[in-house]
Amino acid sequence: MIDLHSHLLPGVDDGSRSVGQSVGVLERFRSLGVTTVALTPHLLASQVAQGLPASYEAAWDKLTPLVPEGITLVRGAEVMLDRPLPPEATDRRVTLGGTRYILVEFPRMVPAEIVGRALREVMQMGLVPVLAHPERYSSCTVEAATVWRQTGAVLQVDATTLTLPRSRGDRARALVGAGLADILAGDNHGDSRCIATAVEWLQEHEGDEQALLLLETNPRAILEDGALYEVEPLRLRDSLWGRMRRLFEVE
Ligand SMILES: [Fe+2]
Repeated sequence: MIDLHSHLLPGVDDGSRSVGQSVGVLERFRSLGVTTVALTPHLLASQVAQGLPASYEAAWDKLTPLVPEGITLVRGAEVMLDRPLPPEATDRRVTLGGTRYILVEFPRMVPAEIVGRALREVMQMGLVPVLAHPERYSSCTVEAATVWRQTGAVLQVDATTLTLPRSRGDRARALVGAGLADILAGDNHGDSRCIATAVEWLQEHEGDEQALLLLETNPRAILEDGALYEVEPLRLRDSLWGRMRRLFEVE
């Protein structure tokens, strides 16, 4: 499995705080079947022109000699699109593995129209935005996500959100159910989150084919700067959690 979103570059953002913590997470990832991990520390759009900060480079130099065997690390960043990307973004210094794919996020309360416009602008620069955890935005509906994908953007749902109750989990399940998620990622912050969580959930919904595309084939296509495969919608079975919730819901 290939995980293209993590905060495991130690000590540079709100993710892993030390090399030891990152190595511990990477060892667990490997034991769960993850082979490639992109390090995507937070970066503001206003910082993109300068490329990755010197502190990120220093953290990379400290971590890489200690990476467990069987894990390949890839550079990248999670760029906050609170303003348009500068022209220097086309240098690809902060994209995923130097490809045209760039991981982007927005403030949580962002309106759907603003997301659509910003994604179109990134496409017009010749880059492909990979929208991190669209399910986190309250404006994210199946209709909005359909429009976002029509810009050419790639949607990255957080794997562990699929098993969360209520709104965010509901939105994540709706996106994967509708075939609107292109890849899944862990968004690990030095904690226990891992993309492997999604495998069991997808299998429960007869989504073996989707699991392969979302966790392996499409993330690999991104790193090879290729085109992604369409992911078929998933027939969601009623979960025990869903049935319990409705039982206790007050109309
Ligand atoms: Fe993130």
